[in-house]
This record gives sequence, C-alpha cells and structure tokens, in this order.
Amino acid sequence: MSEISFEPPRGMRDFYPEDMAWRNRVFDAFRAAGEAAGFVPYDACVVESYELLARKAGEEVGEQIYHFNDKSDRHLALRAEMTPTLARMVAARQHEMRFPIKWNTIAQCFRYERSTKGRKREHYQWNCDIIGEESVLAEVEVLGAAVDALRRMGLTKDDFRIHVSNRALLSELLAASGIPEDRHAQVFLALDKRGKMPDSEIAAMLRDGGLEEAGVVKTFEIMDLKSLDALPDGPAKERLSELFRLAGIAGFAECLEFDISVIRGLAYYTGIVFEAFDVKREFRAIFGGGRYDNLLTTIGGDPATAVGLGFGDVVVTELLKAKFGAEAPLPKKGVYIGYMFPEQRDAALALAAKLRAAGECVDLALRKQKPKQFFAHAGTGSCAKAVFLGPDDIAAGKARMKDLATRTETEIVL
Ligand code: HAM
Repeated sequence: MSEISFEPPRGMRDFYPEDMAWRNRVFDAFRAAGEAAGFVPYDACVVESYELLARKAGEEVGEQIYHFNDKSDRHLALRAEMTPTLARMVAARQHEMRFPIKWNTIAQCFRYERSTKGRKREHYQWNCDIIGEESVLAEVEVLGAAVDALRRMGLTKDDFRIHVSNRALLSELLAASGIPEDRHAQVFLALDKRGKMPDSEIAAMLRDGGLEEAGVVKTFEIMDLKSLDALPDGPAKERLSELFRLAGIAGFAECLEFDISVIRGLAYYTGIVFEAFDVKREFRAIFGGGRYDNLLTTIGGDPATAVGLGFGDVVVTELLKAKFGAEAPLPKKGVYIGYMFPEQRDAALALAAKLRAAGECVDLALRKQKPKQFFAHAGTGSCAKAVFLGPDDIAAGKARMKDLATRTETEIVL
C-alpha cells in the first residue's frame, strides 16, 4: 500500500487554528459589510448540475469545472462560482419575489486551474448581488460594500484600487470601428488575456475570432485610451461618469479608477465591469464583478438585470499578511481556568460552568498543573484572563482573576 500524504490535494487548503484566525478576520469583515449595506444572506448546495455551470463561450472558468457522474449517472459538478446558482435560485421563484433583491453569501468554489500565488483550486468567495435594478446606484451599493469590507480589514485607498470600465462602451467603440457585434464576445475574451500573454498572441486570437488586420489594429488603439474624457460621448460613458459621481457622494471615489483594459474573463457581463487590485500590482485580482443582463434568460428565467461581485479570500489574506505581518491575529478573549491538585478539579469545573452560564468564554485546563506551568501556558494562549485554583482558594471560597495583559487582579467568589 502506498503511503498516504499528509498534505491536502494540490491546490486545496487545510485551515489550522492560525489560518482560521485569518479566515475569520476576513469573513467577519465580509459579513459585517454585507449586513451594513442591507445585503441579506443566502446559501446553496456546492454540487450543481453540470449543465447549469458549463458554458461553451471559450472562457476559462467554464473549462475549469470539477465534474463527475454520480451513481445514478447524473452529470454533476462542484460550483466554480456562485452566479449561475444564484440565477437558478432566483429563476425558481421569480414570480413570487419582489425586486430588486440584495443578497450576499460566502461560498466555497472549486476551479481546476494552475495553482499559483493567489490562485487555488478551492477558495471562498464573498458574493454580493443586486437583481432587478437598472440604476447605476446598484453598482455603487455593491462597490461600496466591497470598499467597506476592505476598510474593516484595515486596508485603505493607499492599498487597493478598483479599476472600472464598461463593456457596453467597448462595444460602442468596436462597432464604431467597424467590428461587427457578433465578434465582440470573442474580442472581450482575447483582450481579457492582455498582460497575461504577449500582444502578438492576443492579436492571433483576435484574427482567429474573425477580425481583419485593420480591426486588430483598431482594437489595440481602443485599448490605449487612458481617460474617460478622451472617449466619445454616449450612454455608456455617461453611466460611468454617473458611477464616479455617486461614488464621490458615498465616499469612495478615491478608490476608483477608469481603466478600459478591464474586460473580465466571464462571458455574461454586459455593462459596467470592475476589478480591484493592490496599488503595487504585486498580487492577482482582489475582487471582480459587473453588470450582467442575460444570465437569467440564458438559463430559462425571465429577463432581469443584475449586478454583483465575487471577492475571494485568498488574495486579500496575502495582502493583509504583507501589510500587517504573517503572524495570525489571534484575538485574546475569555478566561483560562486551571488548578494545582486533583482535589480542586471539581471546583474548577463548577467555576467554568458558572462563568459560561454568565456568557463568558472559558478554556478549562484538562490536567492539574504547577502555577508556573499554568501561567506560562496562559500567557501564550488565546485567553485574556486567567484563574488558578489552589487548596487555599477553595478553603477561602474565593480566588483571583488575573488580567494577562495588565497583570492586574480582581477577586471573584467561587
Ligand atoms: P471571478 O473574477 O472569476 O468572478 O472571481 C472573483 C474573485 O474570486 C477573484 O477576483 C478572486 O478574488 C477570487 N478567485 C477566483 N478564482 C480564484 C482561485 N482559483 N483562487 C483564489 N481566488 C479566486 C466571479 O466568479 C463572478 N461570478 C463574480 C460575480 C458575482 N459577478 C457577478 N456576481
């Protein structure tokens, strides 16, 4: 029999307590920001029908799906993202729901991709989506929640930037350059690879997608446009300007930047798209999302406009570790209770029960210890306070609770 490896499968992660401390810090910020902005929680099964997730648009995510046949030969898959599942759930109750809806969730997602820095084969993704609202205020609310989450984690405008564009704008520009609309989806997918492969290969992809040489040149010219002001007026530009204006009122315009090169790798986006990066561009995308108008109809639902984002746990944790140090930010809370001899064990357990009933978190030592041993352990543990019971304490009916940070003591009744 071959030896079993102690490592998780490639690209998958274990969460030891110190990893869990980081994860909780990130998840707490996600949940708090979602709640603060009125996004209600939902969840769904991790396993989906393959048919729902598989798309033939040549996009990477569609190709990276883990799939299998179950014992009844159903073709199933692990979700690679939450958006198709969300669309399915909404489509199932579309006639009973009152729109717009604002939903959020933290979903574990699986993608069979090359495991590199910032990219795993499994990650958690906070999703915030607004379905059934046309106004650009929906984009502002989704982006505002993401900025709030980043700020709650301790990151500021000096750490990250959200790059924003509009696929509709790009479509207008491509159409004005004589590139027919039925080519745009392929152009988007090719342009999304920019920066990840040489321009010569992008050009080859554009040619494969049916563009003439002039069209390829035009496309690269469009991608060189740097500012919103340089763009021709039209509804797509207006919508972007309105987004920046409203973000100013909401207090995060300083975190936004127009960037025509933001395309997004998923085929379903139709309008404003965005992707956040660290300012030094050392890491992969922190989060990404945009407006998608056709996903519900694609899966058989009624038409509904939607906007949302996916914010992964991997990159932002790398960023936090780079900024604050890799040491896990273990919060100190609760009381550590120990005892000197077996005779004090019952009293220690009774005290633990009493404090727990009063709402305190208590870590009860499972064995007798010498005082030195106990306090050394208490100092390095996760508790903020400690109580050590010896024979004298039991006799007196009281003990001392020590604050491990300030070293001050208060008396408690046993
Ligand atoms: P996405 O850009 O594919 O969008 O993923 C969103 C975020 O999830 C990324 O920016 C990154 O933080 C994280 N992420 C994605 N793949 C991995 C991976 N292999 N390892 C670690 N982190 C990863 C979507 O998934 C869209 N469904 C988002 C959305 C929601 N659009 C509308 N609503």
